[in-house]
Amino acid sequence: MTFFATVVSAIVLSGQIASGQPLDPAAWGSDHVGKPVPNFTSGDECLFCHRDMGWFSNRHGQTVSERPDNHIAIAELAHMPDTKGLVSDIQYLMGRKNSLQFLKASIDHGRLDVLSVKGIHSKGTTAGGLIKLDNPHWDTKVFGARCAGCHSTGVDSAKQTFAAISLDCFVCHGEPPEKHTTQRSLALLSPHRQESAAVVTSICAQCHLRGGISKSSGLPYPNNFIAGDNLFRDFQVDMSAASIENLNPADRHVQENVRDVVVSGREGVTCLSCHTIHRQSAKKHHTVADGAICLNCHSTESRKIRVRYEVHSKTCDY
Ligand code: HEC
Ligand code: HEC
Ligand code: HEC
Ligand code: HEC
Ligand code: HEC
Ligand code: HEC
Repeated sequence: MTFFATVVSAIVLSGQIASGQPLDPAAWGSDHVGKPVPNFTSGDECLFCHRDMGWFSNRHGQTVSERPDNHIAIAELAHMPDTKGLVSDIQYLMGRKNSLQFLKASIDHGRLDVLSVKGIHSKGTTAGGLIKLDNPHWDTKVFGARCAGCHSTGVDSAKQTFAAISLDCFVCHGEPPEKHTTQRSLALLSPHRQESAAVVTSICAQCHLRGGISKSSGLPYPNNFIAGDNLFRDFQVDMSAASIENLNPADRHVQENVRDVVVSGREGVTCLSCHTIHRQSAKKHHTVADGAICLNCHSTESRKIRVRYEVHSKTCDY
């Protein structure tokens, strides 16, 4: 427990504990480390009954998407002598506003190869375009070893393979029992049940806490996390004030919120107080009570003034 001991003392020093003793985030619930990856109902089957979810434009479902017929970055690859031979292999794209990666199915089932060349968008003083143009090649290892757990579904950490490309309903809802059709509250994250702050936070943090590591697998993504589990039994992230301070506002507001819930025990505000997943909206955050978390993105003087920021991530190579 030395890890959390260090983290906790750092937080105590910075005086951010709301009241009483810091919590041990690993103290409740269970996990699926070492158990087989379960079968799950595919999103297509769920959508047969739940048609109107706006799912096909949801960023979660689209994090890895089919290659479109025409795409400016692919056209650019096709123009360059070193890369034009690779263009016909590209089957999928990953990313959008910050970074764009090109992928194809590997020879082995449940794996993707990633092209070493990638795209970036122009912003601020950075010009957009293709980067990493030296020695263009397909990398067969990186997706399974570093990306799969947060960009695909049903991941087996030991084999570094996945069951489904991109993110499916299963990552957040788990496998709802058949009876959920008449008893809605049986489905995880149903608005008809009172999900605990800890459960919600574990579900979202399994991917949004970038920079953590699984104790059991050593990989930068959780080991067989299933919605309803306690993420923090196996996944470790430095949540010390010093570490959070160094993050960009996007990652910082996430880590602060996670720390507030799982270490400080402040359960009043979770990701879902501000975000509505299926409407891809954060409008309801306007009415959340003022607090330190707001200052990641707003000035102290007024909520009408916003802090400008760029998002970069070592975990995601952008
Ligand atoms: C711990 C989970 C996790 C791992 C591991 C991970 N990602 Fe991500 N990735 C995320 C999350 C969460 C986002 C969305 C962050 C946001 O929008 O602020 C993201 C976003 C992205 C994006 C979209 C950027 C954009 O344009 O907005 C790309 C591309 C990406 N990741 C690539 C990768 C690659 C390549 C790897 C492996 C080398 C990887 N990621 C590993 C969680 C992860
Ligand atoms: C990234 C996490 C996430 C994924 C992936 C996800 N959901 Fe949800 N879902 C939620 C959350 C959170 C709620 C609670 C309401 C909200 O915040 O939108 C919810 C609510 C629902 C509801 C209740 C009705 C409603 O709109 O609020 C249904 C039905 C549902 N989801 C079905 C699905 C189906 C089907 C899929 C896959 C096609 C899916 N969800 C994928 C997080 C997710
Ligand atoms: C056979 C049809 C059917 C399938 C398949 C199905 N559902 Fe449902 N689901 C329902 C019905 C009916 C309800 C209750 C009425 C409603 O909310 O639409 C429901 C309710 C829900 C709720 C709670 C909605 C609320 O308002 O509280 C969630 C979340 C949900 N389903 C998610 C899923 C997910 C995720 C899958 C796939 C793994 C799935 N469902 C598969 C029919 C289905
Ligand atoms: C299995 C991994 C995973 C889980 C679980 C997950 N996310 Fe995400 N989320 C991602 C990735 C990856 C992206 C970036 C997708 C992209 O743009 O390529 C993302 C994007 C987002 C975005 C930006 C969407 C937009 O429209 O700009 C928000 C907000 C978000 N997630 C909130 C949540 C919340 C809240 C939860 C918990 C209910 C959650 N996510 C659960 C991986 C995940
Ligand atoms: C106090 C409200 C609040 C809380 C709590 C909160 N968020 Fe956010 N988050 C926001 C707002 C507002 C935005 C900006 C939305 C926009 O740009 O329209 C945002 C942006 C994001 C983004 C996109 C960041 C980017 O620019 O790439 C992600 C991903 C995200 N939140 C995930 C989460 C997750 C996961 C949690 C829970 C651990 C969470 N948020 C908790 C308010 C909140
Ligand atoms: C992750 C960044 C982020 C965080 C954290 C955040 N906001 Fe925002 N806020 C935004 C963005 C982006 C907008 C503009 C888009 C919108 O209206 O949602 C905004 C807009 C607003 C507005 C509307 C301002 C106007 O000009 O009309 C209010 C009010 C607001 N936020 C309050 C809050 C409060 C209160 C908190 C803390 C509980 C908070 N915000 C936390 C990013 C953030």
